[in-house]
Amino acid sequence: MRVLVTGGAGFIGSAYVREALSSRPDADVVVLDKLTYAGRRANLADVEDRIAFIEASIEDRNAVRNAMTDCDAVVNFAAETHVDRSIADQEAFARTHVIGTSVLLDAARELGVGRYLQVSTDEVYGSIASGSFSEDSPLDPSSPYSATKAGGDLLVSAHVRTHGVDAVVCRGSNNYGPRQHPEKLIPLCVLNALAGDPLPVYGDGRQVRNWLYVEDFARAIDAVLRLGQAGEVYNVGGPDETENIDVVRRIVELTGRDESLIEHVTDRPGHDRRYSLSSDKVRALGWSPATRLDEGLARTVDWYRQNEWWWAPIRSGEYRQYYERQYGRGISG
Ligand code: NAD
Ligand code: TYD
Repeated sequence: MRVLVTGGAGFIGSAYVREALSSRPDADVVVLDKLTYAGRRANLADVEDRIAFIEASIEDRNAVRNAMTDCDAVVNFAAETHVDRSIADQEAFARTHVIGTSVLLDAARELGVGRYLQVSTDEVYGSIASGSFSEDSPLDPSSPYSATKAGGDLLVSAHVRTHGVDAVVCRGSNNYGPRQHPEKLIPLCVLNALAGDPLPVYGDGRQVRNWLYVEDFARAIDAVLRLGQAGEVYNVGGPDETENIDVVRRIVELTGRDESLIEHVTDRPGHDRRYSLSSDKVRALGWSPATRLDEGLARTVDWYRQNEWWWAPIRSGEYRQYYERQYGRGISG
C-alpha cells in the first residue's frame, strides 16, 4: 500500500502520518506539503526516515502527478485553516481548497488511484442552535474558510457522480492536541497563560464547539479510508460540547493562573454560535473517540510545557505580526 498524504506537515496531517505508519507498518507514506506558515518539517521529525517528503503545492499539476504515481490512496489535508485569516484575506483559501482539490481529483482519476479521501470540517454546515448535523444536512457555511472548504467537498461529490471515482469525505469537528499552531484557541490560550499574557475571548465566550482529540480524528480517518463506502460523507464529532469560556477557564486552572487573565475582546464577524455533529455513521464503522476533553486538555497543556523547542520559533516569528494585527496588542517573550 502506498498512500499520498497532502498537507501532512500540518497539525492533523502529521498525526495521521503517525497513525498510518503504526496501523499499516508495511505502507509507503508520501507527504506532499507546501510548507506554508502552518506547515513544518518539525511536525514529522520523529518519522522523517520512514516517509518520503515532497515540498510542493497541491495546485502544482506536475508535482501532484509525480507524487501520486503508483499510489493506492490519497488523503487530502492540505488547507489554509484559520477562520480569522480567511476574513482578513480569502484568496489563498479559494486557491488551495478549490483549485488545489480540483488538481488532486483530476490526477487521482487520470492515474486510477484506488481511493481518495477529502478531509473536511463541520463548519461547512454552518451554525446549529440545537440538535446535531447529519451528513444529509444542507451546507450553509459562514466564513470564507468554510465556504471554500464546502467548494472542495462539492467538487469531490461532483467527481463521484460524473466520473464514478472512489472518493469519500470526512468532516471533523474542532480538533486540539500536540503540534497545533498557536493561532487556534486552545494552544493560543495555553501559551499565553504560560507566558502570563491575556487570554482573548471573542464576544461573550458562550459559543459551543465539539472538541475532538487529534489522535481520535486520525483514527477515524483511517477507519473511513479502509471501510467507508465510496461516494459517502462521514461526520466525525468529538465527545464533548463545551462553551469557549469554559475551555479557557480550564486552561487557566491547568496552567496555575488566575481568571483575571481572561479578556473579552471584539467578536469575530459572522461567528458561528454552535457546532454539533452526529457521528452515528462513522461509529457504525467501529470508531469511537477515546479521549474526553478533560484528559486531552491536560495532556495538551503538558505537551506544550515540555516542547518549547517546537513553539518558541513560532511565537517569535511571523505570528507576532499576525497577533498584533488580529488583537491590536503584542505578546511577551
Ligand atoms: P494546519 O494549518 O495545521 O495544516 C495545513 C497543512 O496544509 C500545512 O502543513 C500547510 O503547509 C499545508 N498546505 C496549505 N496549503 C497547501 C497547498 N496549497 N499545497 C500543499 N500543502 C498546503 O491545519 P490542520 O488543523 O492540520 O487541518 C488539516 C485539515 O483538517 C484541513 O483540511 C482542515 O480544513 C481540516 N480540519 C481541521 C480541523 C481543526 O480543528 N483544525 C477540524 C476539522 C477539519
Ligand atoms: P478556532 O480555534 O479559531 O477554531 P474555529 O474557528 O475553527 O472554531 O476558534 C475556536 C473558538 O474559539 C471559536 O468559537 C472562536 C473562539 N476564539 C476566541 O474566542 N478567541 C481567540 O483568540 C480565537 C483564536 C478563537
